[in-house]
Amino acid sequence: MRTYVITGGTDGMGRGLGLHFLRRGDRVIAVASGETKGRALLAEADRLGAADRAGYVRADLSTVAGMHKVIDEVTRVADAVDGLIFGAQRFRPEREETEDGLEFTFALAYLSRFVIGHGLMEHLERAESAVIMNIAGPGGMPGRIHWDDLQLRDGYKGMRAAMQTSRCNDLLGVGFAARHPDARTRYVLYNPGFVATAMADPLPQPQRAITKTLARFFATPVDKAIVPIAGLLDDPSAAAVTAFKRGRPLPLTGADFDPAAADRLHQVTTDLLAQVAAPRR
Ligand SMILES: NC(=O)c1ccc[n+]([C@@H]2O[C@H](COP(=O)([O-])OP(=O)(O)OC[C@H]3O[C@@H](n4cnc5c(N)ncnc54)[C@H](OP(=O)(O)O)[C@@H]3O)[C@@H](O)[C@H]2O)c1
Repeated sequence: MRTYVITGGTDGMGRGLGLHFLRRGDRVIAVASGETKGRALLAEADRLGAADRAGYVRADLSTVAGMHKVIDEVTRVADAVDGLIFGAQRFRPEREETEDGLEFTFALAYLSRFVIGHGLMEHLERAESAVIMNIAGPGGMPGRIHWDDLQLRDGYKGMRAAMQTSRCNDLLGVGFAARHPDARTRYVLYNPGFVATAMADPLPQPQRAITKTLARFFATPVDKAIVPIAGLLDDPSAAAVTAFKRGRPLPLTGADFDPAAADRLHQVTTDLLAQVAAPRR
């Protein structure tokens, strides 16, 4: 029996992957911030006869405390982690700051993946062939890292924040492999394309209605979108880090995967986390 930890495991692709692994007899620890969808996932696991293999950790992953709660809970209940899947996201049309004083999208969709990935490394390495699956946007819409204003205090736009975290996640994969050169854990960056999920729910009108209408015609259903993702979790490439767009491999070249930029982001992120921790001491 394998153990999978899935952030954003109560909706969209995270939920689809969780139910897939529960159906085949694995153990799933889903993480999200809401109570209703968490309960619904556990009820579904019960219907599948998998109640004893399904767990739910309620944590706000936009906060550093929430990120550490997940690490603490997982290390308390599991000896090893075979798959760590990152799927938590929530689009923010307006800039918001978390309780740590960080921009929300950066904290939720990038920083939580940094903290939890590194934080669970020991447990991942105990598994025979663990995989970190970072579902994000490699090779997708353009965007850049605003090195001089990472928290996007000036000129915030929801899409700018979302695209910045995509680029941060590209570099996170490259940087992670560089920081753990002897690890057997594989890092996969995955862009699923347009998938029919709860993604459009936080959009303001009329974008929400437009996106939902487009999704009806053009988006891939979750059940279909998760097939290549589950395949890569079962059978990752030998390379320490790989990137895919809708199942097709992407070359790890160009600015998005630049090792020097990955190193810079790792340092900047570590410094930021130290600043967040300092006032608590
Ligand atoms: N859907 C697409 O077309 C698409 C395209 C490219 C990339 N992606 C990427 O694929 C991944 C999965 O996306 P999806 O569309 O399947 O997601 P989704 O259906 O929107 O579900 C998002 C999940 O994240 C959780 N979440 C939201 N805010 C949270 C918070 N503060 N703390 C903890 N959990 C939180 C949600 O539960 P709660 O609200 O209860 O917390 C939910 O379980 C994301 O990383 C996304 O960027 C998606």
